[in-house]
Amino acid sequence: MSVKGATHQDLTHDSAAKHVTGRADYTDDILEPIGTLHAYLGLSEVAHGRITGMDLSEVLAAPGVVGVLTAADIPGANDISPTGTGDDPVFPAETVEFHGQPLFAVVAKSRDAARRAAARARVEIDPLPHVLDPMGAIEAGYPDVTAPLKLERGEVAAGLAGSAHRIRGRMEIGGQDHMYLEGHIAFAMPGEDEDVVVYSSTQHPSEAQHMVAHVLGVPSHSVVINVRRMGGGFGGKETQMNLFAAVAALAAKKWNRPVKLRPDRDQDMIATGKRHDFVADYEVGFDGEGRIEAVEGLFAARCGFSADLSGPVTDRALFHADNAYFYPHVRLRSRPMKTNTVSNTAFRGFGGPQGVIVAERMIEEIAYALGRDPLEIRKANFYRPGGDVTPYHQVVEDNILERIVGELEASSEYQARRQAILDDNAKGGIIRRGIALTPVKFGISFTATWYNQAGALVHVYNDGSIMLNHGGTEMGQGLNIKVAQVVAEAFAVDIDRVKITRTTTEKVPNTSATAASSGSDLNGMAALDACEQIKARLVDFACEKWGVEATEVEFLPGRVKIGAEEIGFDDFIRQAYVARVQLSAAGFYKTPKIHWDRAKGQGRPFYYFAYGAACSEVSVDTLTGEYRVDRVDILHDVGRSLNPAVDRGQVEGGFIQGVGWLTSEELWWDGDGRLRTHAPSTYKIPLASDRPRIFNVALAEWSQNAERTIKRSKAVGEPPLMLGISVFEAISMAVASVADYRECPRLDAPATPERVLMAIERLRAER
Ligand code: MTE
Ligand code: MOS
Repeated sequence: MSVKGATHQDLTHDSAAKHVTGRADYTDDILEPIGTLHAYLGLSEVAHGRITGMDLSEVLAAPGVVGVLTAADIPGANDISPTGTGDDPVFPAETVEFHGQPLFAVVAKSRDAARRAAARARVEIDPLPHVLDPMGAIEAGYPDVTAPLKLERGEVAAGLAGSAHRIRGRMEIGGQDHMYLEGHIAFAMPGEDEDVVVYSSTQHPSEAQHMVAHVLGVPSHSVVINVRRMGGGFGGKETQMNLFAAVAALAAKKWNRPVKLRPDRDQDMIATGKRHDFVADYEVGFDGEGRIEAVEGLFAARCGFSADLSGPVTDRALFHADNAYFYPHVRLRSRPMKTNTVSNTAFRGFGGPQGVIVAERMIEEIAYALGRDPLEIRKANFYRPGGDVTPYHQVVEDNILERIVGELEASSEYQARRQAILDDNAKGGIIRRGIALTPVKFGISFTATWYNQAGALVHVYNDGSIMLNHGGTEMGQGLNIKVAQVVAEAFAVDIDRVKITRTTTEKVPNTSATAASSGSDLNGMAALDACEQIKARLVDFACEKWGVEATEVEFLPGRVKIGAEEIGFDDFIRQAYVARVQLSAAGFYKTPKIHWDRAKGQGRPFYYFAYGAACSEVSVDTLTGEYRVDRVDILHDVGRSLNPAVDRGQVEGGFIQGVGWLTSEELWWDGDGRLRTHAPSTYKIPLASDRPRIFNVALAEWSQNAERTIKRSKAVGEPPLMLGISVFEAISMAVASVADYRECPRLDAPATPERVLMAIERLRAER
């Protein structure tokens, strides 16, 4: 049976041609009706303080200005906190909490007029002391933005005391800007009564709907959110969009005109949250073979001024502080610290990467202390198949890392290349090389259990064409094509027949964010459920009309076999329609088996794990600290891939984004709390020229999900980001070579050339 576009086939992204020819519609491409107004935000220039006066008369007098919006203009709740913590105002009324906080919006006839006018505001703020980083926040007695989490198993104190060796350390791990190509944008159209329709670049239309309703003080049924696609989200549009949607909607209702709000890149970077940076303190006890006996870890995070998603993000850091390794005795704690910085948020991996890199640092510490290859130490500590328990008391049932790492070790010729590098470095040249092979194990499911649900709406029109709508959003990751493949396969029709439509809160209600890599797991299943319902009705119809048993009805490519007869799909659908068969269905899915008790720190938060490994080789110039990635080999597990071409793209993109996070992307706030890296000129993401010289990416084709996921596939969006850690560890090895690997370089992330050079000089000085 061959259906063009069934699952497990290599298909290009449905919009690939449109993406590269500029014909894909983004929110900013929607034709603006005559009379459209433009909004622009006015930001705080103080990190912390009391607002004593806000004189906007000059703003109002500026050419083209229609009006301004401040906290006083909010008819409903002045709160867009995603988890209802109430600490996230649209505009603050009294206290400014970070440099760059939006204080008001200007609405004008053109974007340029609004932008120029915003600069004329005179805001008086009585400064208060501010704290920018998590350690400073702990010292200053700042609160946690949300309750800390503790994960504990075994007897940590006794475990550490009984270990033959113990190492303590601290690692600083930087944040990351999302740098989506399309920035935040919202375009609101007022309707009659309380209605408003908002086109917005959001990963979470239902939340945007809820927030807009809440801010306007109207029921959710009055608000529609639409998103055809995003030009990248990466977690940055999970909650951070709420502000833009709310302000555009407020203005649209106030002036009864369409209103567009599109910040420029600097404002987007300054006013929206990023990946959390962490300071992690660890202590690890181990035996002479490098087997870990006990781990204690404290993870303090820069959360910014409000909770946003910092609770679940810091929780996920703890959930991944084991990465792939069994800790017999363990205690992990989080400190989600309030700081006077922008409120940090979701970013690919959602705190997981910050946990994983600490696990890998501990492995490296052990390896250097014992004079062994870090890969040996990794293998010695893998969860053993069939029974080891994580710090959150979930049993690791399906660990396939031994095979993944074994195959990658062979295909990348790790051993021979490592030996060659050791020999080369021993000659003492200026260019030193390093190689590292690191694994990842990533838990799949939202830890907020109720988020693990999805809906879909499938219509079969009476000409045999199919419309598919689901609650997920497309941000470039290929979710739409994967779900369309599921539908094409279900009806055994070519994928060209399946139209993928924009996400809208009108078609599928109460959806979850497209996040936690679970988009295809959840929406694929919901769409399949809808298809199965329609198919069941079609089978009933066939049985009745042709007088056959259900087992005699078969969907073949483009046709249906009923008893001995075969009829074309279109014809069959036409007949079903005439016989008044309902050809539309709403599907639903909720993930089974998962549960999580946060207070106890116990449960099964993850339905399953996704695995992968990367082997990276780098060269480092020991005079400048500059480096180059020479070769990367990846073997990644996506179960039975829904679409291997798209999945390989996700693995490559995720990996490169992880490398950017750990090498060149550096966020830097000055002493006044002003973000100084707020444009591509000062914030360096990887370029095409930074790609590895040799880049071999493979999927573990033999893998299939042990759980009953959609077609036995696994989530792919986030896990590959953590493969970038192999580059970081390879750089670390090159650095360590200057002191003959006697010491594990305490390299912090990002390992910018400056940091690499300082690490080299520190090691040289200690010689
Ligand atoms: N890939 C592209 N091209 N653009 C994106 O914005 N976001 C990532 C990942 N891959 C992203 C991406 C993040 S953070 C997540 S959670 C997943 O895609 C979300 O989509 P999925 O659940 O459908 O995998
Ligand atoms: Mo992804 S950080 O879960 O949007």
